[in-house]
Amino acid sequence: MKVLVATEKPFAAVAVNGIRELLTAAGHELVLLEKYTEKAQLLEAVTDADAMIIRSDKATAEVIEAARNLKIIVRAGAGYDNIDLEACTARGIVAMNTPGQNSNAVAELVIAMMIYMCRNQFTAGTGHEISGKRMGIQAYGHIGKLVAAKAKALGMDVMVYSSSRSAEEIRQDGYLPAANLKELYENCDFVSVHIPSTPETRGSIGYELINELPMGGCLLNSARKEIINEAELVKILGDRPDLKYATDIAPDCMEELTSKFGNRVFATPKKMGAQTAEANINAGLAAARQIISFFADGCTQFQVNR
Ligand code: 3PG
Repeated sequence: MKVLVATEKPFAAVAVNGIRELLTAAGHELVLLEKYTEKAQLLEAVTDADAMIIRSDKATAEVIEAARNLKIIVRAGAGYDNIDLEACTARGIVAMNTPGQNSNAVAELVIAMMIYMCRNQFTAGTGHEISGKRMGIQAYGHIGKLVAAKAKALGMDVMVYSSSRSAEEIRQDGYLPAANLKELYENCDFVSVHIPSTPETRGSIGYELINELPMGGCLLNSARKEIINEAELVKILGDRPDLKYATDIAPDCMEELTSKFGNRVFATPKKMGAQTAEANINAGLAAARQIISFFADGCTQFQVNR
C-alpha cells in the first residue's frame, strides 16, 4: 500500500527514518510530502495514497474527496479537529489519532512557558518563582495529568477540573479537585488549558472566566486558539493589567495583543508543543504501526470517527 506522510511541519528525520523502516518491513511504500506551501501540492499527493499520516495538516472535505484510494488517515498526535470526520465517514475512511504519544513534549512546554512568563520573558526586572504557587489544570487527559505531575514536582499546589474524573480520583492522585471552572480559575495562579477544539468548547474561555483569576494570574494555552474568545481576551487584558497570557498557538489578534500588552503576552512563533524528536518518534511510529495493523488485521483501536 502507498502511505503518504504529509507534513507541512515535518517530523524529525529520525522519526521519518523509523516510519520508513516500519512501513517497508511490512511491505508498504512511504511517500513523503514535507514543508508543502500550497494546498494544490497536498491535493496532488493524496490522489493515489491508500493511507495517510498527517500532523496539524488540514484534511478537509476537498482533500478527502481528492484521495480516491484512501482507506485510513492517522493524525500523528492528539487533536483531530483538522480532519473532516464526516467526509471520512461518508467515504468509509477510518480516521485515527495517536493519543498520549506526544503529551510529554507538550507538558514540558507548558512548564517552560510558565517559568518564562514568571521571569518577564527573560528581560530585566524582578520576576516570580513558581514554587508555592497553585497550578490549575483544565481537563485531566494525557497532557493535563503530565502537567499536574510536573507542577507538583516543582513545588506547586495543583488543582484539577475534570468533567470525567471524580473528585475522589483526583484526590487520590494527590491534587485538589475543583467542582467547576469558576472554582478552578479563582483559586489558581496559573491555569493550563487542555480541552480539545469542538463546537462546545470553541470560544468557551472568555472575559468572565479569565476575570476569576487572582491578582497576577496567568493563562497557559497549549491546546487550540479556537477555544479562546479573542475579543474578550483583549478586553480582560486591558481591564486587568495584572493578568498574563501565554500560548503555543498564536491567536489571530496576536499583533494587537503584543502592541497593547507587550511582554504580558507570549506566543510561540509556530506551534511547537509536540516539536521534539521524542514526540515525533512516538507519534510518527505509532501512526505507522496503526496503519500496518489496520491493513494486516483490521485493527481500528484508535478510530475517532465511529
Ligand atoms: C496535537 O494535537 O497532537 C498537538 O497539537 C501537536 O500538533 P502538531 O503535530 O501539529 O505539532
